[in-house]
Amino acid sequence: MNLLTEIRSLFRPALTAMVPEPALVPEFLAAIKPTANPEHGDYQANCAMALGKVLGQKPPQVAQQLVAALPANDRLEKPTIAGPGFINLRFKTEFLAQALRQIATDPKLGVAPVAAAKTYVIDYSSPNVAKPLHVGHLRSTIIGDAITRILRFLGHKVITDNHLGDWGTQFGILLYGYKNFRNDAAFAADPVRELLRLYVHVRHLAHLAEDDDDDAATDNPVMAACREETAKLHAGDPENVALWKLFMPACMEMLRPIYERLGILPFDYQHGESFYHPMLPAVVEELLAKKIAFESHGAIVIPNAKGIIPQTPEEQKKEDPPAIIRKRDGAFTYMTSDLATIKYRAEQFQPHAILYVVGAPQALHFKTLFAQARRWGYTAIDFQHIQFGSMLGPDRKMFATRKGGTVELMELLDDAAALSLQKYEAGVAERRAHGHKVYEATAAEKQMIAEVVGVGAVKYADLSQNRTTDYVFDLDKMTATVGNTAAYMQYAYARCCGIFREGQVDPARFRHQPPDVIFSHPAERALALQLLRFPEAVENAAAEYYPHLMTAYLWELAKSYSVFFENCPVLKAETPQLRDSRLLLVDLVARTIRQSLELLGIGVMERM
Ligand code: ARG
Repeated sequence: MNLLTEIRSLFRPALTAMVPEPALVPEFLAAIKPTANPEHGDYQANCAMALGKVLGQKPPQVAQQLVAALPANDRLEKPTIAGPGFINLRFKTEFLAQALRQIATDPKLGVAPVAAAKTYVIDYSSPNVAKPLHVGHLRSTIIGDAITRILRFLGHKVITDNHLGDWGTQFGILLYGYKNFRNDAAFAADPVRELLRLYVHVRHLAHLAEDDDDDAATDNPVMAACREETAKLHAGDPENVALWKLFMPACMEMLRPIYERLGILPFDYQHGESFYHPMLPAVVEELLAKKIAFESHGAIVIPNAKGIIPQTPEEQKKEDPPAIIRKRDGAFTYMTSDLATIKYRAEQFQPHAILYVVGAPQALHFKTLFAQARRWGYTAIDFQHIQFGSMLGPDRKMFATRKGGTVELMELLDDAAALSLQKYEAGVAERRAHGHKVYEATAAEKQMIAEVVGVGAVKYADLSQNRTTDYVFDLDKMTATVGNTAAYMQYAYARCCGIFREGQVDPARFRHQPPDVIFSHPAERALALQLLRFPEAVENAAAEYYPHLMTAYLWELAKSYSVFFENCPVLKAETPQLRDSRLLLVDLVARTIRQSLELLGIGVMERM
């Protein structure tokens, strides 16, 4: 049950009766929101001002009429009207208590499956294999995985597809390197490492700078030779195709340990660009025949998103460029491959939506792609570029690991784990110094803590940012044990579990036969309200594909829990009934934190 939806459904009939234009109702409903200040109630309806304008009446009067028109219900206290017409809404305590008992018995903590499940294809991670993983792909992987989990939790069908860049110039580089500089023994012993060496070596020979694209230098003879190898591969040259098949498993092997360590869900498909290669000529022909694509200076292009192919220099200055889908030399492009991918996915999966979790620099590519795909006939599919900003280093420049390598990415996770363990041990020492009895974790448990907290820290830091903004990669901050971090949530979870351990109470009872809920202190009611807002958080996060709305929720929940924890003794509550009621709250906090973190792909430990 989504509290906000509940409230809106009380307002809908009242608004519909008052608003002259039914189309305006959703807009007024959207003005019903959680309050920023709990003194103003739980939620606030701020629609009377705008509605007053429409009706030509004073907002406080409109608010009064609206309140009078609300259907009789057992959920809300009598609404109050404040200031220029704010309607303050407060749930009845009895209702909250009942609702809490209800979610306690629900494995999904009150989240109802969506009424109309949709089919999503989500394209994420999508690294260019055969070269070291870029931090941008790390972000795509973490964000895409979280969105997948959230949508699936709501009951949607989500088809995940890792659109590997497995067909580009980087293979020309490898082919050229392998043919000219390979060390057979090294390749036999560790193909991943040898391919990486060849890749770096050839780029070095071609005088490519570290942050240069593989396609950057044009007149370098080494790069020309590499491009020739790529062209031969695309043309089906048997030797190059055989080598490509030899390299691919090794390339995938570079990715596996990272996905494994990050705990990424297995992909349903990993159709890379190579998969679409045979479909490209027909796609270009079809687009030409449908007059979506045109010839231009020997190449075949599709117009920009506005449908324009800028011709004059002035036009070229103010309009987005067209996109090439077949070069003069016959080569196809990233765009051609993405067009073919849409056709394939549409036919294969009949999705309602296709989500592309790709960095913001590709915004123009997707704008053009989506516009032309719609002209092509794919109007029923909701195409979404789920963009994200850059990861910045401490110097606020683009974050780049020195060599950008897989190895370094693993080292980075190692560092996060080591730092997390260090902070854990410092915390234990401090508690001991204060005379607390602290459990001595085994070496294996410590290792688990380091890994779960360290990897969690990196993922949480990424997911807790509004994905569209850049963020600074700061290991110390992300592994902090206080604040809006993974560690803080994980410790809160472990503390909840600790209460049950200490009291030797089995939480199962609170899930099968929840006790009566007693609100004896304001912190209990505030915490109950937060717990009941979990479905709202999940649905909001899904609506705009914003995982940070989940972490923002977790942060609010953790703060409420901390106030509760300081004010409301649980095991030492005054009466057995109050103790049970508080244990129920604690169990729900634990379950909600655990579930929320799971939706972000982050683990927990029962004891830390
Ligand atoms: N491999 C691409 C890159 O690294 C990302 C692919 C994203 N997906 C897509 N369908 N274009 O830039």
